[in-house]
Amino acid sequence: MKMIRTIDELKRWRESLDGPLGFVPTMGALHEGHFSLVRCSKQENPYTIVSIFVNPTQFDDPEDLRKYPRTFERDKELLEREGVDAVFAPTVEEMYPKGFEDEDAHYDFGYLERILEGAHRPGHFKGVAQVVAKLLRAVEPDVLYLGQKDYQQVLIIKKLIEKLSMPIKVVMCPTVRESDGLAMSSRNVRLSPQQRENALALYRSLIKAKEVYEQGGSVVEAKQEAMKILESAPLIKEIDYFEIVDADTLKPINNWDEADKVIALVAVRMEGVRLIDNMFIK
Ligand code: PAF
Repeated sequence: MKMIRTIDELKRWRESLDGPLGFVPTMGALHEGHFSLVRCSKQENPYTIVSIFVNPTQFDDPEDLRKYPRTFERDKELLEREGVDAVFAPTVEEMYPKGFEDEDAHYDFGYLERILEGAHRPGHFKGVAQVVAKLLRAVEPDVLYLGQKDYQQVLIIKKLIEKLSMPIKVVMCPTVRESDGLAMSSRNVRLSPQQRENALALYRSLIKAKEVYEQGGSVVEAKQEAMKILESAPLIKEIDYFEIVDADTLKPINNWDEADKVIALVAVRMEGVRLIDNMFIK
């Protein structure tokens, strides 16, 4: 497995390849969710590269950036075991050289970046787009693998790729869950056993919304039932949102037949840890 630290080195490695390249961008603290993306890429491409870069520009909260788990040596070992061809792990200075006007800092995604995660984490998607644009130009992948857990991020990155006019296919892989349903996340390591127990309310609220739909209930009922579950978890102090929306546009719906594909999305805060999850309802 090749360890690459600079964009120049990466470009040289890229030029030496003789077939399609799959790319899994990450911020490290890797878990089964990431490995499922890696395995998918390895099945579909002769070459796979993973990036590990904790991107400072996408954190709206400096405390969250400071506390973000960093497990680089372990990540490297596990990626080696997965048979990844290369890891790109640049420094902050490499990605954001001082004194350069950053052409990637100002992508505008309109409505898509102002709702849900965008409304609760101002500037987050601008930061994601800024780093992903740089990563995509540096890596020049054929296929990009992203996890469904960050569903709004997947839509934003698809729009970004259109803006960049790059011939990159995006593959979204299903959220990987613990056996009790909790969505895997790098932030889960920060949960106390009690918080971990309360965090299950996210999955249960999504399952409940789906059940209400399947049993003929309305969108309002689905939301109400889901909110009851979230509100009954004592350690969930703030529910940022529980929304049921058109999966293509993220516009809220009032009736199930307003959209072909419907998704429910949820975000909560529990004593300094923010968790998100989502599930397709139809
Ligand atoms: O999903 C993530 O881990 C990050 O947002 C990404 C896509 C690697 C950009 O920093």
